[in-house]
Amino acid sequence: MKHTVKTIQAMRDNKEPITMLTAYDYPTAKKVNDAGIDMILVGDSCAMVVHGHPNTLTATMDMMVLHCAAVARACDRTMVIADMPFGSFQYSIEETMRNAARFMTEAKVDGVKFEATPYHIEKTKAIVQMGIPVVGHVGLHPQAVGALGGLKAQGRDIKSARKVVSEALALQEAGVFAIIIEAVPAKLSDFVTRKLNVPTISIGGGPYCSGQLLVTPDVLGMFDSFTPSFAKRYQKFGEIMIETFKTYKEEVISGTFPGEEHSYKMSDEVLESIMKEFEDA
Ligand code: KIV
Repeated sequence: MKHTVKTIQAMRDNKEPITMLTAYDYPTAKKVNDAGIDMILVGDSCAMVVHGHPNTLTATMDMMVLHCAAVARACDRTMVIADMPFGSFQYSIEETMRNAARFMTEAKVDGVKFEATPYHIEKTKAIVQMGIPVVGHVGLHPQAVGALGGLKAQGRDIKSARKVVSEALALQEAGVFAIIIEAVPAKLSDFVTRKLNVPTISIGGGPYCSGQLLVTPDVLGMFDSFTPSFAKRYQKFGEIMIETFKTYKEEVISGTFPGEEHSYKMSDEVLESIMKEFEDA
């Protein structure tokens, strides 16, 4: 059965940890789904980890819709959340609503997430009122990398901690069904989690949230350009890939590949007849 806002809320109420990973393509999403992970975020981090840009600001609606549609096709169990890219929710309420609707109708995801600040509470409410499940996001907003002077932990001083708590409360009030807490001290996300009735999902927010989120290429060890300190690398797939490609190259050069078993067969009669036909060509 596919996860919904109700099953995710029930997990939080029963103190069952919620698991979430990012995915950007069909084969990876299928594996995440088949592994029983509860939620997928098709993050705008795809601008960095898939498209090789230095930050998330270059993700566009068209790019995100394409990735989201591929991921959604793979998931019959995992709830799929689309990340609204920079520029898709900053202008008018109407444009924000249209962009959120695009993710639902074109990509067929189960909900949207965006880096809403206090300036976007009315937009959050408008999307919730359309009947779209919305995930909030507090703490580090990677789309604000320029204004923040880098991808830095948030909520460590009083002003910043107050911002995290008040934004989480405002988002809950606006109707989000879960809140991602990124790169804030564990004690602060514990406090926020206890203040809220909706699930909190930590990415660099420590162990006391209702669930955990990681960026899949970090988990697999496939992305080296930037790895935040909170990310855990479970595998060295990047190294395995390089070794595999080297072996392939060696086999092509040595003639080991392709072997008989990788080649199509043809009868001698057909070959002889073709040779005869093209004798003078
Ligand atoms: O794009 C992304 O992967 C995200 C997470 C880091 C929360 O927004």
